[in-house]
Order: sequence, then structure tokens, then C-alpha cells
Amino acid sequence: GYDNIKVEQIVDSTNQILLDQIPHLENGQTCIAEYQLAGRGRRGRTWVSPFASHLYFSFYWYFDSGIDKISGLSLLVGIAVVNTLEKMGIQGVSLKWPNDIYYQGKKLAGILIELNAQATAACHCVIGIGINIKMPPEQAKLINQPWADLNALIPTGVDRNELSAILIKELQYLLPRYEKSGLTPYLSRWFELDCFLDKKVNLLIADTITMGICRGVNRHGALLLEIEGQVKEFIGGEISLRLA
Ligand code: BTN
Repeated sequence: GYDNIKVEQIVDSTNQILLDQIPHLENGQTCIAEYQLAGRGRRGRTWVSPFASHLYFSFYWYFDSGIDKISGLSLLVGIAVVNTLEKMGIQGVSLKWPNDIYYQGKKLAGILIELNAQATAACHCVIGIGINIKMPPEQAKLINQPWADLNALIPTGVDRNELSAILIKELQYLLPRYEKSGLTPYLSRWFELDCFLDKKVNLLIADTITMGICRGVNRHGALLLEIEGQVKEFIGGEISLRLA
């Protein structure tokens, strides 16, 4: 069988390791690696994954009553990451819809959830989380957006074992609650952490830019954007959000 926590040296992608084990996994089984040869980001991008520098973490969860839970899942996982960082003593981390973790306008961590949905409503989820810990200068050049790392925030250094343990605990606490009650109990937390709330934003869908004012999210995890006085809903996928 698969260990509860598997720590690997080199993998293509920790998400792929878990995806390959479906349907033989149990809730909470985790894969962590020192190095990813083909770390995956959202929308087909690569996730720069230098050796022993960051946290590359994947966590398995099974939803038996399904698909309708998935749209809000990435938001919940974002909250779990922020809670974890706060428990490590890091304040001032915020969330950008649907699932980026920011510190002072720079990306600190990312989430990639990959699914193996079945014909039934059941759904196998691999929750991938990458947290920047200490960015090597030569890798920084490969990243085409402003980034932050934990090393700048915790001068005494970051214990990746401690970070992983707190993150696992947090996910194990939040996911069953989310499964039962959805995102509703967590909406106020999202509003607290949303870095774009009440700000003017540009929403990019395919090649079209829509301007609006960010009004948070609803219980399905949809983005709420006020456009000419009317609040409209937008669901994930190929949408990206920028400050206007
Ligand atoms: C993003 O584009 O913001 C999502 C990045 C997710 C990266 C993590 S690292 C661990 C897991 N394995 C992967 O290949 N990707 C995710």
C-alpha cells in the first residue's frame, strides 16, 4: 500500500504520483518531493521547482457526493494555506481568486487541483500546493511574475517538516467540514483574506477584458464582479484577474 506521507527525492510531479495511485488511495495520503522535473502550474504552465528550495506538496481527498463541491474547493484550500502560514507566525498573507496566495502583491504559493471524476458523482481529488520557501537567484529569473518567499518573512528559517505537518492537519480539519457544509461557513474568512475585495479589476476571459469592481465570491466559489451597477458571477477555468 501507499504510506500516509511519502517523501520523494525526485519526481515528475507530486500531483502525478498521487493521480497514478487512484483509486488505491485513502483520504489524507500525501506526497512531498525535494525536486520536480515537471512541476505543473495552472493553465498548462510549469511550476519552477528547484531542488530542496520550496515545498512541493500533494494531498488526496475523495468526495463521494461530488462534483458540485469542486468549484469551491480551491478557495477552501487557499484558506487552509493561509491558516497554516498564520500558525507559523506569518501575518499579512492574502488570497487572489480563485487560488493564488499573495504577500504584499507578490505570489507566495499556488494551488493546482487535479481531478479524476467518475461517471458517478464521486470524485477523486489531488490537491497540489507549492509554497515558495527560499528562491535561488538563478531560478528567480525564470519566473515571469512578482514572487515572494517565506525566507524573507521568517528570518530564522522555515522548517518544511513543521510546515507540512500543520498543512496536513489543517486540510484534515477543514475538508470534512467543507464536505458537509460547503463554502458557506468559510465565506466570511474569504472576504477577510481577499486582496481584491472592493477594488477595480480587469477580468481576462479568452481575449476579452471585462472591467468591474470585485465583490468577493459566492458559496459556489464563483467570483462576483460588479459591472455597471450589476453583480455578475464568474466561474473559474480560463479566467484571470488583474488589478485595474
Ligand atoms: C499555480 O499555477 O499557481 C499552481 C502551482 C501548483 C504547484 C504545486 S507543487 C506540488 C504540486 N505538484 C505539481 O506538479 N504542481 C503542484
